[in-house]
Amino acid sequence: MSEIKATNITWHEGHVTREERGPLLKQQGATLWFTGLSGSGKSTFAFTLEHALVQRGHLAYVLDGDNIRHGLNKNLGFSAADREENIRRIGEVAKLFADCGVVTMTSFISPYRKDRDNVRALHQEAKLPFLEIYVNTPIATCETRDPKGLYKKARAGQLKNFTGIEDPYEEPHSPELTIDATSTSPQDAAVLLLEHLVQRGIIKE
Ligand code: ADX
Repeated sequence: MSEIKATNITWHEGHVTREERGPLLKQQGATLWFTGLSGSGKSTFAFTLEHALVQRGHLAYVLDGDNIRHGLNKNLGFSAADREENIRRIGEVAKLFADCGVVTMTSFISPYRKDRDNVRALHQEAKLPFLEIYVNTPIATCETRDPKGLYKKARAGQLKNFTGIEDPYEEPHSPELTIDATSTSPQDAAVLLLEHLVQRGIIKE
């Protein structure tokens, strides 16, 4: 974890507790961290779940890798160091959203186990639910789908550091859930995830 650079800063505790915000939204904040290869279906799963949650009257929001790289993280590329910083920032943002009471979905390749584990630790420290969801669609399927034509470019040597081709993807050791987009539709995944959220008391039925 990176160190605090600033000196002479003091934590200022607010007057509103998480326990007070929860009843207001009738839900608990949580982070659902989708990880997996490019083209595995992370964003489709996350956005389908977001839609299902909002339709049921819940406040939910997706932080999506490609989208966040258009704004907050526009100064980051795909070196290991930049990916680490990408995940660190989004881990912090997700923690803030979850603290605020939002059911937060993140959709980032997040290929390095250490970076994901740091985000998990951050949430554990803050006593916020963190669910790692491994979208383990096989690379052959991701490559066949190739929705953005990036695997083709990477194979042709026109795209450096592409995850799964030149760069590694480290599988999670013990994710809370594993979903394969080859055998699970986004709708079925949303049902599964909603059940999981109810079981954990994050939302009510
Ligand atoms: S991460 O590795 O830092 O977590 P992130 O999820 O934000 O990646 O962004 C991945 C997206 O960026 C991919 O879905 C793809 O559209 C695009 N992309 C562009 N170049 C690369 C690359 N070298 N490796 C992986 N994804 C890339």
